[in-house]
Amino acid sequence: MAALRVSGTVRVPGDKSISHRALILGALADGDSRIRGILDSEDVQSTAAVLRTLGAEIPAIAEAMVVNGVGLRGLRPPARSLQCGNSGTTTRLMAGVAAAHTFTSRFEGDASLSRRPMKRIAEPLSYMGARLEFEKGDGLPMTVHGGDLRSIDWDTRAASAQVKSAILLAGLVSGVEVRVTEKTRSRDHTERMLRAMGVDVENDGNQVCLRPRRHLNAIDLQVPADPSSAAFFVALGSLAASGDLTLTDVCLNPTRSGFFDVMKEMGAGIEAASVTTRGGEEVGTLRVGPSALQSMTISERDVPALIDELPLLACVAAAAGVALEVRGAGELRVKESDRIATVVANLRAVGADAHELPDGLRVTPGNRDLSGTVDPRGDHRIAMAFAVLSAATGNRIVVRNPECVAVSYPHFWEDLQRVTA
Ligand code: S3P
Repeated sequence: MAALRVSGTVRVPGDKSISHRALILGALADGDSRIRGILDSEDVQSTAAVLRTLGAEIPAIAEAMVVNGVGLRGLRPPARSLQCGNSGTTTRLMAGVAAAHTFTSRFEGDASLSRRPMKRIAEPLSYMGARLEFEKGDGLPMTVHGGDLRSIDWDTRAASAQVKSAILLAGLVSGVEVRVTEKTRSRDHTERMLRAMGVDVENDGNQVCLRPRRHLNAIDLQVPADPSSAAFFVALGSLAASGDLTLTDVCLNPTRSGFFDVMKEMGAGIEAASVTTRGGEEVGTLRVGPSALQSMTISERDVPALIDELPLLACVAAAAGVALEVRGAGELRVKESDRIATVVANLRAVGADAHELPDGLRVTPGNRDLSGTVDPRGDHRIAMAFAVLSAATGNRIVVRNPECVAVSYPHFWEDLQRVTA
């Protein structure tokens, strides 16, 4: 197995969750919002396209852009279906917005998105007074008949920032108080951005309460680098035999930094520096070098802060030859692919010892001489996780359909090449 050497500094692209929210809240604000460093990826393009179909003036996605907001309830009835592509965040957040407008909109998506459950937003939005119709089960296409909504106090079953945000946005646009309680706190970018735009949003443990307000102030925002994208390089730096990597401007919001915390617990030498708060989000530089990693167990409580990084964590365990058990992560089955099945099938395809659990997976130390072809099933994060496994174990793993990374990290392969060359 060739010993991997890494070097360099990577500023991964802007955070995907924050980028979606910047466009949506910028469109709903009064006046010009200035957004710098937005992620230009397929998912964010889907949000921009949906907002344009609803009459918002969203310019071409660019490093520096200005969104001239139409104000709360300023969106117009769409002349055609809202095309959400592969993006669950676009669909669920915009369903909350659409539900609070007195018009009808039809949401459509690609095959993967059309399989994802929407009942989780249909229930609270229906309770608030909107009517949501489905043609097959609770997947897309979905028709949202919006209207004047009433206040809600909702307990979500699984921690989900998309569900929480759909309810907050519906409450914001309708001008009613909403309260959401989760078992574990999910990412809180919506709350932070709303606060920065003048809204009274209070977090109390796992509960969030939004109070009505007539206007949303415009925002001046610099989007930090996406921790879920930085995670691939943090993993790579820890698994390398020599060298080190620096990741700059990374969003270190504690509801997103679970992967870095777990890696540290496993023994990774990750150092954070220059940590500051910008636009209501913690941001800093991460430096990581080769480390001897240890086995790990992840339980339900840990999951929300690293939900998108669990496929990568499984690949890290396989590369490092350590045990990993993940429980309480049934949500992985309804992501861009069934991430439990996809990760386990692909780990086995390259010779690793992995097993599915109903709500998670198990990786057992064994063969580290991994090779073969993996099929990410069109799922961007699976493709990148196995690219890290491949680089760390001697580049004998081929990732099919590598272009699927465009959903969240269009230049991933170039950045990977640069730091491992
Ligand atoms: C996201 C929330 C999470 C996450 C997704 C982005 C968001 O989904 O997995 O990648 O931006 O709100 P859930 O809300 O389904 O947990």
